[in-house]
Amino acid sequence: MSRRAIFLLMLLAALGPPGLGSGTAAAQPAERGAYIFAAAGCAGCHTDVKNGGQLLAGGRALETPFGTYFGPNITADREHGIGGWSDADFIRAMRHGVSPDGGHYYPVFPYPSFTLMTDGDMRDLKAYIFSLPAAATPNKPHEIRFPFRFRFLMAVWKYLFFEPGAYAADGGQSAAWNRGAYIVRALGHCGECHTPRNALGAVRAGRHLSGTKAGPDGEPVPNITPHRTTGIGGWTADEIAELLRSGETPLGGEVDGEMWEVVKNGTSKLTPEDLAAVADYLKNIPAVANQVFPGP
Ligand code: HEC
Ligand code: HEC
Repeated sequence: MSRRAIFLLMLLAALGPPGLGSGTAAAQPAERGAYIFAAAGCAGCHTDVKNGGQLLAGGRALETPFGTYFGPNITADREHGIGGWSDADFIRAMRHGVSPDGGHYYPVFPYPSFTLMTDGDMRDLKAYIFSLPAAATPNKPHEIRFPFRFRFLMAVWKYLFFEPGAYAADGGQSAAWNRGAYIVRALGHCGECHTPRNALGAVRAGRHLSGTKAGPDGEPVPNITPHRTTGIGGWTADEIAELLRSGETPLGGEVDGEMWEVVKNGTSKLTPEDLAAVADYLKNIPAVANQVFPGP
């Protein structure tokens, strides 16, 4: 079966059960959490799909300039996963990048983005993860180069580059823009790939979403600011929403690789209102000139 056919089947499957929509007051925490889980793409880094690993059982290799990290087991298994964690433990990990035993996480776990999530969304997310089957799969140790492997150095890194705290709405912008900002920055962590980094691996906030020649696995990631010639300034809001829903670009192509995973596991499951909010946000952020791919 072609990848396109598989994708269409997945879309149909995603359309199947209702209730995955935006969290209504009546929805259960785990149901609301399923939506956050998709939007935040937790499955990708924590599931070793290549080797047939169970959902969230860990073991997926993540190549970075600092070495190879392995996503840990975050199923509700008490020994190998996070089954023994309280809500407070989970919130501390997501908001502050600190483990229950006080260790600092490496920012390859995108808590610099997740820190922007609300407490409520974090609790719902944990409820959903704990509703999934547990896996007794041991974690693989990271293979990181000297001196980056020292966790205490992360305290210095955080001091320099990390600011914890939930997203604060921008009163000068519309409700839709703020919802889009929340989805892009807190949940979708789009900037973790689309924003260039400095030599110490911190995203350069002043160049938000302007693309990079050295994204994950060393691959280029396009500029998605509204810059006319180097970004997606020529796209309509509907074209942006359509790409996130189906993976199709305005020229009739399809996104590939990492972005295809983002669409398949994540943005294809967002409600039309949320997709429109993301498009609204992307149309109304500062345009940054950055030619990632060779021009025409
Ligand atoms: C880009 C890859 C990536 C994504 C996306 C990601 N994680 Fe992780 N996560 C990691 C890595 C790598 C670690 C290990 C960090 C370390 O060892 O310092 C980690 C660690 C964790 C931990 C700590 C586990 C432990 O045993 O201490 C939790 C909890 C967690 N992630 C939850 C999540 C949730 C929930 C999501 C979705 C909202 C998510 N992660 C998305 C890569 C990712
Ligand atoms: C894991 C890395 C990663 C994440 C996270 C990610 N992207 Fe992407 N994105 C890419 C890559 C790589 C491409 C290029 C894909 C291609 O050329 O086929 C891309 C392409 C795109 C494009 C098409 C741009 C163009 O010029 O063709 C848009 C729009 C986009 N991403 C938006 C987003 C949004 C919005 C989010 C957050 C919800 C996001 N991306 C999260 C890696 C990522």
